Amino acid sequence: MNPARQKPNPDSGTMKKFLPFFYLPAAALWTACAPEPAITDAQPETRIEYPRDAHSLSVPSEVAVRHLMLNLRADFDRNVLSGSAAYTLEQNGGDTLVLDVRGLVVDSVFTTNGEGERMPSAFDIAEGNERGDALRIVGVSDAELAEVWYTTAPDAAALMWNTPEQTHDKKSPFLFTQGQAILTRSWIPIQDSPAIRITYEAEIHVPEGMMALMSASNPTEKTSDGVYRFEMLQPVPPYLMALAAGDFSFAPLGERTGVYAEPGLLDAAAYEFADTEKMLETAEALYGPYVWGRYDILVLPPAFPFGGMENPRLTFVTPTIIAGDRSLTGLIAHELAHSWSGNLVTNATWDDFWLNEGFTVYFEKRIMEALYGRDYAEMLNVLGYTDLKETLAYLGPESPDTRLKLDLDGRDPDAGMTDIAYEKGYLFLRWLEELFGRENFDTFLAEYFSTHAFQTMTTERFIEYLDERLFAFTDPRPDVEEWIYRPGLPETHPVPESDAFDKIDAFREAWEGGEILAQALPVGEWSTHEWLHFLRGLPESTDADALAAIDRAHGLTGRGNSEIAFAWYMIAVRNDYRPAFGALEKFLTRVGRRKFIKPLYEALSENESHKAWAREVYREARDNYHSVTASSVDEVLEG
Ligand code: BES
Ligand code: ZN
Repeated sequence: MNPARQKPNPDSGTMKKFLPFFYLPAAALWTACAPEPAITDAQPETRIEYPRDAHSLSVPSEVAVRHLMLNLRADFDRNVLSGSAAYTLEQNGGDTLVLDVRGLVVDSVFTTNGEGERMPSAFDIAEGNERGDALRIVGVSDAELAEVWYTTAPDAAALMWNTPEQTHDKKSPFLFTQGQAILTRSWIPIQDSPAIRITYEAEIHVPEGMMALMSASNPTEKTSDGVYRFEMLQPVPPYLMALAAGDFSFAPLGERTGVYAEPGLLDAAAYEFADTEKMLETAEALYGPYVWGRYDILVLPPAFPFGGMENPRLTFVTPTIIAGDRSLTGLIAHELAHSWSGNLVTNATWDDFWLNEGFTVYFEKRIMEALYGRDYAEMLNVLGYTDLKETLAYLGPESPDTRLKLDLDGRDPDAGMTDIAYEKGYLFLRWLEELFGRENFDTFLAEYFSTHAFQTMTTERFIEYLDERLFAFTDPRPDVEEWIYRPGLPETHPVPESDAFDKIDAFREAWEGGEILAQALPVGEWSTHEWLHFLRGLPESTDADALAAIDRAHGLTGRGNSEIAFAWYMIAVRNDYRPAFGALEKFLTRVGRRKFIKPLYEALSENESHKAWAREVYREARDNYHSVTASSVDEVLEG
């Protein structure tokens, strides 16, 4: 059997809920009564239509890759991966296989025809732009297999080769990849568009004593020879290919869930993520069966540029969410939710990114609400809404980048990673939920996921689907175009509200007005979120004595909770509160999470003497950052 035609997960489960019939157009009625659309039928045998993708040079409409066999060796002396990638091809009538590459040294290419004859093949690399080049393999119309032998660049954008000093235990090096959005091409020659789906298997060689993990079936023990084999037989887009290697141990969290971390961090990680299995069950109860088998978490070094990355079967997370009190685990709910929104139903291009992230934030908040209650979830929602308002103010309410559907042609898709996709996307779905009622909207979403499982989705197709399945008999039809194609926020949007935060506002005002002293604030009862709301609500300029008083009373400088520390350092920078600068320097040097690091450098750049100081810190810190963070900070400090 051609593994590329392997059908996805056979036990797709059944959809029990259907929309009430009055929501369905006549044409949809028979579907509702017919046997349900099984996930097993999701990978169509017919030819896929590939949307135009401005961020890939590949031409899958001519020849497409369906299955990948990787064989790579990780060389920790030279910081390179080398070996081969072999592809099963889908012939769509073209003669040339075009793969995205970035910085790869290609040694040789072979093709194998239907008779099993393997021969060297001509190839060239056509120069593209700073986001990648095109590896062209010609004369493949008779080929069943193509094979590329290559080596990655030591500074490959997707790879971070952490030294032992950059890890928690300081004993072993630690390699991790970050594929999203278009970095996979810097470690695998690939048709690097989210509209492509491939299955893969891999053999990875790492130094003895290290463990390798992928977004695939994973080991829980080290092998004696450093050779690991992986399989991912459900088709995934290339940005979800992931690899890590280091000194990992494993702790189970539940039947289908577990965590990998460096040995010295494992207990803390297992404590922090103890609710993961419950989150998985909660997610399934909302939107249907989890189809990926296991859900494990890998804790990365602090240089990981993101909070989390939803690599299938193995979410990658920053260690900065290990707060000791489980207060930042909404991030796990988020990455888990991507197992449906994103990994199962995938944005067709990066212009449709809100389909991945807006849905995921909505789903994440529903998981958090189901597990920890409405009041808790509303605190998170208010924080998200505050972020959104700040982002809208920063981008300007008329900025085209505040539309849900983006236009990222000619730009790095990274530019789309703003609160617009996440928080405006969330509010849009919440608005629909409020219009149609939670039960109907949940039924709609569950069906959306099962109907489009293992497929890509464009914004336009989603609107059509809304029209068919949710709006059919709704008069007037909700103006979704305003949300999706117009900048800013529609006037009537949901506004999250939290009583707990209202109390915090009252305390903040009392403190600012001199009615109570810093030490009288009842912080013993405050969660991380209440602290964040308190800090974010302080006026742009707060007097240094007041900051010193609250710092003295509650020890904000050097806080272990990364979110609170970050919020505090932003205030310290804006108000030139020097006693925090030593701890800030440590934070900037140790942590590489862009969400923290970039705004701090931006704030520092607003003042010439701070900027000079920031440049000095950066000189030391830059090596500790992943290329994603480093290139963002380069931009900030350039001017
Ligand atoms: N998929 C994203 C991370 C991402 C997006 C990487 C775009 C590269 C390009 C991930 O699911 C994510 O959204 N992470 C957030 C955390 C989340 C709780 C909002 C992050 O890293 O901050
Ligand atoms: Zn996400």
